[in-house]
Amino acid sequence: MSLFNVYPLNPIAITKAAASRVWDDQGQEYLDMYGGHAVISIGHTHPHWVKRIEDQLHEIAFYSNSVVMPIQEQLATAINKLSGKKDFQLFLCNSGAEANENALKLASFHTGRKKIIAFKKSFHGRTSLAVAATDNPSIVAPVNETDNIIFLPLNELTALENYFATMGHEIAAVIVEGIQGVAGIYEASPIFLQAIRKHCDAAGAVYIADSVQCGYGRSGQFFAHDIAGADADIYSMAKGMGNGFPIGAILIAPHIKAKFGLLGTTFGGNPLACAAALAVIEVIQKENLIQAAAANGAYLIQALQNTPGVKTVRGRGLMIGFEMEPGLEEIRKVLLNEMKVFTGEAKPNVIRLLPSLAISKQDIDLFLNRLNMAIQELKQTPA
Ligand SMILES: Cc1ncc(COP(=O)(O)O)c(C=O)c1O
Repeated sequence: MSLFNVYPLNPIAITKAAASRVWDDQGQEYLDMYGGHAVISIGHTHPHWVKRIEDQLHEIAFYSNSVVMPIQEQLATAINKLSGKKDFQLFLCNSGAEANENALKLASFHTGRKKIIAFKKSFHGRTSLAVAATDNPSIVAPVNETDNIIFLPLNELTALENYFATMGHEIAAVIVEGIQGVAGIYEASPIFLQAIRKHCDAAGAVYIADSVQCGYGRSGQFFAHDIAGADADIYSMAKGMGNGFPIGAILIAPHIKAKFGLLGTTFGGNPLACAAALAVIEVIQKENLIQAAAANGAYLIQALQNTPGVKTVRGRGLMIGFEMEPGLEEIRKVLLNEMKVFTGEAKPNVIRLLPSLAISKQDIDLFLNRLNMAIQELKQTPA
């Protein structure tokens, strides 16, 4: 049987990983500035994470959500403490799309309304509502098409205000990434996030902060949206939460009330996933990784801004996008094939850096060296 061919693959088989390095099946080492798409938060195969999962496997890996699971309570307490979102409630699931699907559904249940505001270039996942709220018609199947989603331009206050002025009473939710990832690293401005908060309050709508990619410390704050100093009603999380162990969640403000059967999942919140997520939080705290992401990200952004050949740099913490001057567009290929560095991309020409929050300053310098070498090489290559 063949694999369903939906991914344009790099012809490299990664079979081993540690911290910010990965190795292929030929033993070739690579520097990982991509973190498997922003998933690796505390570093590949972190020993504490491996041990906690291993220990949990010997106790119990799975039971359904029909029984009390103290490890879920432990995780809820730990996330409340680390995020500062006191008294928020936790619903556990398995992925980013599922987190957003539940967030949107919950907002609709809570308000009794149908309309959702999302933003141009947004990406929220591939399940039915999440993909409908994603601004990419090529991945929206006919069955997912709905006129309940309205796409407004990001950071345009007047468009937001006008829409709320006419349709406010019908709006269930506004969903917004703190920093748009798939779009190519575009930040929602603090003033725009504050306006979303204000309009949602006035209209009785739910503010959903999609933190699947930009959350969990990656921006240098627990949630990228925290920069606005205003809480959302629901935060969706996934990627960095399990450091590669599949887990997602929504954090729900206290005023949104639960009811039996409102949401549900078979695998979400299983003990093994909770153990992985607790290990991640313990390492983030012990190694001060949120502060490290802020400091190392600022250093990397400044170094990129001073790199000849780099045209623009965007982002915050360790969620960075940059574009090259004309003639240097092939930089990702040279970085991967010759300099042995994994990076991410966003169409058409954005290079995305999403390394582990635990990446060392030496590895950042190594990346900058290799980037400079790749630039020199491309400059010497005849067009
Ligand atoms: C902002 C954002 N939301 C949601 C998702 C979907 O997450 P998942 O692929 O885990 O379903 C992604 C994935 O890239 C994302 O970047």
